[in-house]
Amino acid sequence: MTTRSRLVVLHHPLIQHQLSILRNRRTRGDAFRRAMRRISSLMAVEVTRDLKLRRKAVATPLTNTWGYSLSERVVVIPVLRAGLGMVEGFVGVLPEARVGHVGLYRNEETLEPVEYYTKFPRDLQSSLVLLLDPMLATGGSSDAAITFLKGRGARRIRLITLVAAPRGVGKVAKDHPDVTVYAASLDRKLDAAGYIVPGLGDAGDRLFGT
Ligand code: PRP
Ligand code: URA
Repeated sequence: MTTRSRLVVLHHPLIQHQLSILRNRRTRGDAFRRAMRRISSLMAVEVTRDLKLRRKAVATPLTNTWGYSLSERVVVIPVLRAGLGMVEGFVGVLPEARVGHVGLYRNEETLEPVEYYTKFPRDLQSSLVLLLDPMLATGGSSDAAITFLKGRGARRIRLITLVAAPRGVGKVAKDHPDVTVYAASLDRKLDAAGYIVPGLGDAGDRLFGT
């Protein structure tokens, strides 16, 4: 794991293996969705390492002992559309988590985010919010999503992305220094059209075949 201020890059070999499947231009359709689900489960484990536990009594078949249950509420919020590909992996390992949605797309000329849908569970204030967006390019979409969430009362937000570009990491760090960004990779740069290089292409189009 490499940590640079608010960026944590997850180097786990299983995460890097799935990321390479996603980067490969030949990975299509179901194989792409499966790899996104698998990498998301692995990342979910890493980003919840410090969740708080409550001690509780457990009866095993042999005796009574102490066990634990999660004492924190977690809300998972994908940024539509591409963030949807990460939800199943997260709720697979966090079955009690609630799920909100924030719909944003980048205007392809200005690269500015445009909001089209939001729906959040009621208890954002007291929850750990895990915001999911596979690509952090200019940072416009994630940055705007974080602003919406804060406006709705969220206090503890983590941004989980697969591929981050230095520009997006810088924007989120500047505007939201309280938010830690977790990524499977910090890539080199953006191209002239705002795509991450080397990246994995257009995450939403590859997930949904558009
Ligand atoms: C993609 C991606 C991010 C955003 C990242 O979404 O899923 O949300 O771009 O770019 P940014 O950091 O420069 O804002 P897109 O706008 O293509 O919408 P989609 O998920 O519906 O395809
Ligand atoms: N959105 C994507 O889906 N891919 C990129 O490389 C940048 C933004």
